[in-house]
Amino acid sequence: MITPRRYLMCPPTYFRVSYAINPWMDPTKPVDPALALFQWEDLRDRYRSLGHTVEILQPLPGLPDMVFAANGATVLDGRVFGARFANAERTAEAPAHREWFLGHGYAAVHDPRHINEGEGDFAVTGGRLLAGRGFRSSHRSHAELQEYFGRPVIGLELVDPRFYHLDTALCVLSPDRDDVMYYPDAFSPGSRAVLARLFPGALIASRADAVAFGLNAVSDGHNVLVPAAATGLLKPLRERGYAPVGVDMSELQKAGGSVKCCTLELRD
Ligand code: ARG
Repeated sequence: MITPRRYLMCPPTYFRVSYAINPWMDPTKPVDPALALFQWEDLRDRYRSLGHTVEILQPLPGLPDMVFAANGATVLDGRVFGARFANAERTAEAPAHREWFLGHGYAAVHDPRHINEGEGDFAVTGGRLLAGRGFRSSHRSHAELQEYFGRPVIGLELVDPRFYHLDTALCVLSPDRDDVMYYPDAFSPGSRAVLARLFPGALIASRADAVAFGLNAVSDGHNVLVPAAATGLLKPLRERGYAPVGVDMSELQKAGGSVKCCTLELRD
């Protein structure tokens, strides 16, 4: 039995690559907004056909990266830990998320002191929170996160600029079974050792699959929506009992984000 999930997504109405804040973004390369919308709608519809609920955050003009809803907050036990973006181009997204939560019955909405980009850098496993740092979220946000949710936070150092958010390098497949997949070289040696200790049975991704955004996937504990180009992950996922669903997010990947980046989980 799959527990139905609730996700928050924001349509790519104003999606463009008009600045570069990660190595994937090249403002001189054209993007096709119609194709981006098509791919985003396909993802939304797949969630819905799997029985999940998708809530919609209204996009705002001038915020081309707002489609990456995962960065706007971290929600656990119905409580919201807001975001504070590292780059000026995205700062205005945080209050837009905050307003959405306040307007949708969330009473506890924390306005963070330290830089953190929501689920871009924070992930929820069985008993813990994993937290990335090195490019975007400040190491100080980790202590703030732990204090707010009262769950132990494991800090992980990201070292490769192409994998600038934790969710580009690691995906929680099943919080209940504490199962994850990740790309070791995205992490510092110490963090790699921490991951090996915590998740000895993890699915280890190749560089090719990581570069294809294969770790920027969303799992409901059974179905794993994963960028289709990460072909090397499909068989090992099936062998572990998951049902991988390949999706094409090529247009949004021009801004350095894929399936997971477009999806904020509302853990109520
Ligand atoms: N262009 C966006 C940025 O650099 C992409 C964000 C991707 N989101 C994510 N959760 N990794 O901030």
